[in-house]
Amino acid sequence: MRVLFCVCCLISVNIFAQKTDSVTEKKITTLLSKMTLEEKIGQLSQPVLDEHSKDVENEIAAGKVGSFCSFNKRHYTPSERNRLQKIAIEKSRLGIPIIFTYDVIHGFSTIYPISLGLSASWDLNLAKQVASMAAKEARYYGIDMTFSPMVDVSRDPRWGRISECYGEDVLLNSVFGKATVEGYQGNDLSKHENIGSCVKHFVGYGLSMGGRDKQFTEISKNTLLNTYLPPFKSAVDAGAVSVMTAFNDISGIPASANKFTMTDVLKDQWGFDGFTLSDWDAVLELQNHGIAGNDKEAAEKAINAGLDMEMRSDMYLNLVKSVKEGNVKESVVDEAVRRVLRIKYKLGLFDNPYIDDKKSNKVQLTEENRKLARKAGAESMVLLKNNGVLPLGKKGRLIIDGPFTNSKDMLGWWIGNGDDQNVVTVEEGIRNKTAGKLQIIHGSLSRNYDKTVLICLGESGGNFGESNCITDVTIPKSQIELVKEAKAKGKNVIAVIFNGRPWVLTPIMDYADAILIAWHPGTEAGNAVADVLFGDVNPSGKLTCSFPKMNGQIPIFYSDRISGRPRENKYKNIDANPLFEFGFGLSYTKFEYSNLKMSSNTLKKDGSITVSIDVKNIGKREGKEVVQLYIHDKVASISRPKRELVKFAKPNIKAGETQTITFNLSASDLAFYNIDDQYTLESGAYDLWVGGSSNCELSSKFTLED
Ligand code: BGC
Repeated sequence: MRVLFCVCCLISVNIFAQKTDSVTEKKITTLLSKMTLEEKIGQLSQPVLDEHSKDVENEIAAGKVGSFCSFNKRHYTPSERNRLQKIAIEKSRLGIPIIFTYDVIHGFSTIYPISLGLSASWDLNLAKQVASMAAKEARYYGIDMTFSPMVDVSRDPRWGRISECYGEDVLLNSVFGKATVEGYQGNDLSKHENIGSCVKHFVGYGLSMGGRDKQFTEISKNTLLNTYLPPFKSAVDAGAVSVMTAFNDISGIPASANKFTMTDVLKDQWGFDGFTLSDWDAVLELQNHGIAGNDKEAAEKAINAGLDMEMRSDMYLNLVKSVKEGNVKESVVDEAVRRVLRIKYKLGLFDNPYIDDKKSNKVQLTEENRKLARKAGAESMVLLKNNGVLPLGKKGRLIIDGPFTNSKDMLGWWIGNGDDQNVVTVEEGIRNKTAGKLQIIHGSLSRNYDKTVLICLGESGGNFGESNCITDVTIPKSQIELVKEAKAKGKNVIAVIFNGRPWVLTPIMDYADAILIAWHPGTEAGNAVADVLFGDVNPSGKLTCSFPKMNGQIPIFYSDRISGRPRENKYKNIDANPLFEFGFGLSYTKFEYSNLKMSSNTLKKDGSITVSIDVKNIGKREGKEVVQLYIHDKVASISRPKRELVKFAKPNIKAGETQTITFNLSASDLAFYNIDDQYTLESGAYDLWVGGSSNCELSSKFTLED
């Protein structure tokens, strides 16, 4: 019999990171008391700048714009932002500044790897630095808030937006989300080098049915609590000023009109005091969802459920009538406005509404930023196979081929103000590195050299991302042929793949001697690839999403449950294992794990133990290794994942060196929502594994005790 121990204290939030001071709250109260209902509703509206070019000045002056969303850089210049802000400050009755927003997702002018790629670095400092650099470029350009990070746990590579999250794991989305929020927001949001972070898409979007974008989801309350909500909590605890609600419904209740998620959980339980913002037209679409019969009803359902600001669709204009009719209390509107104004104060917009547009150019795409993009690109790459053909020598001859050899299409889906003209291609990267000492020959097929051929494969940035869902994630036929034909010529084939989602690579496994997953690495793509190919950077990325053997295995992820008859958990034609598992990635050196030790085999519910392991670099090169610790709760009130990542570290280990890696495992790392949806610790037996991937074998056991 297992004893439950309620650990509600463990989910207490860092409300101090959120709350503004009482002086500001008083200012907000005073301001609110002066506002008309129309002006209040104006604060809750986020029109799209690009679409309001004709009457934009009048709308601002009338107090109808609380924030602007824009996606087109032609409309979004620093001086234009200042001009519009000036109208808000000087021409609107109460002079309330506007929040300018944009999708700064993995960079602004300098583009870094797509989020799925960056997560494969398992490097949280790097993620923070990347966000911080992006914030600086964006804020100097006049952007106050970004719609990022995206922390939708996703396990379906058919869904194009898997590229935007940090992979299939709850912990990784949580810690990368946190690091990213911290990087964007810094310590002081009023400083013109930090931007507000709007974490998205709240919640469950990653489970869109069948991997089709913007579809409904079926998510039990328990799964919501254990899998889909935790990354958002982590971002909110890190101080994210806004939360964007998703397009999908959650078991029938659209996320943008979902009282449970927005009010009960986010605001009441977590103490979030920023504002919620709908995704693009999501309030209008409540009618398509079939929960509202007209615009007014859609607006009422959204605001009454806790949605503060609406993006694009102007449904909230109907709220004037709703308040007059008594369908929405004015206090509900006031509370939403208070949240928006609070963030405007936090962003320093009342004191300092303008940006120095002369400085803007100086911070864009600097050498320093490019350097970071190059580093991030290389750290994100995952070496899946290597028959010893990598790293390459910098002299001699190299044949290059494939559609991505000279492509600048390496920026991914959201590219901010990035310009593909600034992208370093693979061939350029190789030439930069080898300075004329390596002869480059184009085309693998025409010549019969018995030499190494580098084939650059992949998908365009327009093939993944929003609305870009596909039924078949197998490497395209023409690319398989290229690899096969090169091999048939007796060449050593190195495949570098620029993909935005896990691919089925089974068809090339017997033909490629080396496979390097490069994702879409961003502006410095070619230099970063060359760093890895020639061994100046020893690859250390590890997959954060499983790569299936076949499409039919999807969805496939490491943390599924064992279920009742595991031996039958397979297909007639194939087992249930992925081709490459979560956490997998090779290096140019090798690591050996031994000596797994625990300070105790019992863990008290208010205590912690240490888990240590020796990691030896048995190869000839220095390298970094992502050391991963997994647990399994053997008997609980609900069936728990067969393995769950709870800790990781990424030490740099010299050739021949052994490092002892020590993890502090606290009882709180084991807490979860139980059968009664209570956040608890349940005493009992646990298995534990430590190693270099989710398949690691060195294991131990411990018991959690009262
Ligand atoms: C996307 C969001 C994005 C928003 C604004 C929506 O279609 O789902 O992720 O932030 O547009 O561009």
